Amino acid sequence: MKKQTLLYALIALVFSCNEDKKEEATALKYVEELHSNAKPNTSVIKHLDLDIDVNFDKKIIDGSATYHIESNNATEIVLDSKFLEIERAEADGKPTEFELGAFNEQLGQALKVKISEDTKTITIHYKTTDKTEALQWLNPQQTADKTHPFLFTQGQAILTRSWIPIQDSPQIRITYNATVKVPSELMAVMSAENPKEKTGDGVYHFKMKQPISPYLMALAVGDIAYKAVSNRTGVYAEPSMVDKAQSEFSDMEKMVVAAENLYGDYDWDQFDVIVLPPSFPFGGMENPRLTFATPTVIAGDKSLTSLIAHELAHSWSGNLVTNATWNDFWLNEGFTVYFEIRIMEALYGKDRANMIALIGRQDLEEEVEGFKNEPEMTKLKLDLSNKNPDDGMNSIAYDKGYLFLRTLEETVGRDKFDAFLKSYFKTNAFSTVTTEGFIDYLNTNLLQPNAIDFNVEEWVYQPGVPENQAKIISDKFENAERTLHEFIDTKTVDVSKTKDWTTQEWVYFIRNFPETITTEDLKRFDEAFDLTNSSNSHIAMVWYEQAINHDYHGNGVDQNIEDFLIRVGRRWYVSTLFKAYKRNDKVDEALVIYKKARANYHSVTANTIDGLLGYNNY
Ligand code: BES
Ligand code: ZN
Repeated sequence: MKKQTLLYALIALVFSCNEDKKEEATALKYVEELHSNAKPNTSVIKHLDLDIDVNFDKKIIDGSATYHIESNNATEIVLDSKFLEIERAEADGKPTEFELGAFNEQLGQALKVKISEDTKTITIHYKTTDKTEALQWLNPQQTADKTHPFLFTQGQAILTRSWIPIQDSPQIRITYNATVKVPSELMAVMSAENPKEKTGDGVYHFKMKQPISPYLMALAVGDIAYKAVSNRTGVYAEPSMVDKAQSEFSDMEKMVVAAENLYGDYDWDQFDVIVLPPSFPFGGMENPRLTFATPTVIAGDKSLTSLIAHELAHSWSGNLVTNATWNDFWLNEGFTVYFEIRIMEALYGKDRANMIALIGRQDLEEEVEGFKNEPEMTKLKLDLSNKNPDDGMNSIAYDKGYLFLRTLEETVGRDKFDAFLKSYFKTNAFSTVTTEGFIDYLNTNLLQPNAIDFNVEEWVYQPGVPENQAKIISDKFENAERTLHEFIDTKTVDVSKTKDWTTQEWVYFIRNFPETITTEDLKRFDEAFDLTNSSNSHIAMVWYEQAINHDYHGNGVDQNIEDFLIRVGRRWYVSTLFKAYKRNDKVDEALVIYKKARANYHSVTANTIDGLLGYNNY
């Protein structure tokens, strides 16, 4: 290179660096967030010291949240707060003024705290109230062991603000320390480094050194014990459940190894699961270091443990690389379903993986059909303005998201796709991504370098499912369907044909009953397989749905459905059954059960079912 050219090149380099710096200083770091009042571009929380008392008699949490903040010459910092009683605020330990904005049904209230240019910390003294949506206080009767009360939190999507005043947007990331005081006979665990035994005095100290989004703040308190599965995985559960949980989840370490082989190191040190009482509103919730799970996944034969693979997968897609806003929710869930199925394939083979994928494919078809009057809800990128983020939390994000990624994988080839995903997680670790950011990254790092033309825009921004979707085939499901029709056509049941069936085949068999199936057929199946008394929650749930659809009342099934709906609060199960009542013009029957069940449900399940059944008589 000539000297002169080198000089020009150097000058250009210096200028371009300056340019970058300027951009950094002026660029707004946080994109617009519909579901938070916070203004993080002006002042933002970075670390939380939480100091709380869990009072089971009054059913409140009471204490203080101290935040280390960064601000841009701001005179206030805005937090989210919902149904909290704010007592007082401090800036750097001295009393400061605060103001609560107007109440909004979805967002709650803006909590504005006065600060000065050099304020380093703010402290909020507060109490939860009986309206606090994140918390479910359970009496002993609602637990497995029936001797001690229990409390758990659920933060996703925008409920953390109802138990901690916080900047409740997924773009925020904080580390935290917490001191939690509970009755001495109980143990507390959080989405943090956890105790393995009770302390005796009921005081627990927690540390979360990796920065997490506020929706991942979590706490559970109860009479629980710990059993290790490996040196970095294990289970918490009530004493009567802990051994069952340990053996059901004995493949946890293998799952972590498989996941690391795919997309890089597990960055959270420990991976534990706590099995909660049956009212827990989700199958699982990926709280970092400590997944919260429903006891309905414990089938006795590890057949429902893809849920653990799913929550583990969120340690990358969601917890490490987080959807920037709830409109980008598919980035969390679609990637996680893809990753879940890859983990299941690595552990148990392609047959099992494809069965899980096909069940999702069927859910997707039903969801698209259900949204036939609202096709915009079937886009991956959502517009949830004026909507609760919960409205976007359906099979589209999960199963259309999955199908998109699987189709991409099949188009570019697995090796290239895996390398791409690994670099995507590494590049974006501990930060957030928008749908547009992902598409840019995809174009630059996968599609353009390989000269691949792919209808990304159609997949992401158009309703429905594009033509070029991957075809998923399962011989096992084809066999299950053939068997079903044989049983119906011959009016006889040959049990030998089902003796090697897995849970997935049973679910497929039951879900695919033709419209014309008769109660005689159902009776024959029930006599042969006692589906009404299945101890597998997923098989039971799809069977109950068919009993409701087809007016089957044999073998005490009505009582079982009622008991199930009263005991289990898992929203997906419960809403599937209540939807079946509604679809079949049996809302009155549903209401009789719902009135008995509602008090057992966490607010997220109760809200969904209230809406579904038009119930407001509480
Ligand atoms: N993060 C979700 C649960 C969630 C979603 C809570 C939206 C609140 C709002 C979790 O990872 C999940 O997807 N759970 C599923 C598990 C299943 C897909 C294996 C569930 O609860 O059924
Ligand atoms: Zn998930």
